[in-house]
Amino acid sequence: MKSVAAFSTLLACAAAQTAYFGVISSRSASPIHLLPLQANGGKFFLGGTASGYCPSAAIGNETCDHYPGNSTTFAGGNGSLGLGVVVPGGQQVYVAPNGALSYTQAHSAYIPEGSERTGWNKTDRNDGSNLGSLSFDGGLVACPRNETQPWQVYGQIANFTAPEGCLGFGAVTFNVSDAAAWQY
Ligand SMILES: *[C@@H]1O[C@H](CO)[C@@H](O)[C@H](O)[C@H]1NC(C)=O
Ligand SMILES: *[C@@H]1O[C@H](CO)[C@@H](O)[C@H](O)[C@H]1NC(C)=O
Ligand SMILES: *[C@@H]1O[C@H](CO)[C@@H](O)[C@H](O)[C@H]1NC(C)=O
Ligand SMILES: *[C@@H]1O[C@H](CO)[C@@H](O)[C@H](O)[C@H]1NC(C)=O
Ligand SMILES: *[C@@H]1O[C@H](CO)[C@@H](O)[C@H](O)[C@H]1NC(C)=O
Ligand SMILES: *[C@@H]1O[C@H](CO)[C@@H](O)[C@H](O)[C@H]1NC(C)=O
Ligand SMILES: *[C@@H]1O[C@H](CO)[C@@H](O)[C@H](O)[C@H]1NC(C)=O
Repeated sequence: MKSVAAFSTLLACAAAQTAYFGVISSRSASPIHLLPLQANGGKFFLGGTASGYCPSAAIGNETCDHYPGNSTTFAGGNGSLGLGVVVPGGQQVYVAPNGALSYTQAHSAYIPEGSERTGWNKTDRNDGSNLGSLSFDGGLVACPRNETQPWQVYGQIANFTAPEGCLGFGAVTFNVSDAAAWQY
């Protein structure tokens, strides 16, 4: 009886653990094939750099060493989507009224009126790999930006019309064991 109870507790703990994943774009024979989806300055980009960081003065260098912040992880993906972060309160992902894929600032729940917070669906391949896919209702597109952040990502909500030069893409997920940043 005791070992059964212990086993149940173990299962409960495992289930309660946050599952993190990274996202890579997929559109074969295009310049946006296999680029990482990166959070930077409140928006998302394919390729380019992530703006993750860690308040070492508050939590110590040793803790911060685990969260280099130079890549982007996500959490959730069943309806809503969040960034894979450790900062209390997390950081929510949403599609702004102008279509820009966006995320909330740390320590703030502010999301502009008229934003779309749901429509996400992560499905796993169930083939023993850590791979899956992530969809957004209406789809995702990437539009050319500049040399530093080559492609900005938009969600195709009703009011968004992709300008010429934007490319739709699929999102491949890969499970990872930990958050990549304290916050973005
Ligand atoms: C943390 O790292 C910074 C930069 O490397 C260093 O200046 C600081 O002294 C370190 N702080 C502690 C508490 O180790
Ligand atoms: C991120 O930084 C860590 C530590 O500096 C380094 O080991 C890792 O290779 C970097 N990852 C990427 C994707 O640049
Ligand atoms: C996704 O969310 C729905 C509704 O909240 C829930 O019924 C379902 O079990 C969830 N699916 C997974 C895989 O967690
Ligand atoms: C998510 O996608 C899976 C596989 O395509 C589908 O079976 C499921 O109904 C979808 N869930 C939602 C909430 O759309
Ligand atoms: C990947 O994470 C999901 C939860 O988000 C989990 O259901 C699935 O089993 C994981 N896949 C692997 C291969 O660990
Ligand atoms: C590139 O675009 C990003 C996002 O719009 C912007 O923050 C950055 O300042 C731009 N960089 C240059 C060199 O124009
Ligand atoms: C689309 O934009 C118009 C004008 O800004 C607004 O009135 C309308 O509510 C928006 N529709 C949706 C679905 O957000």
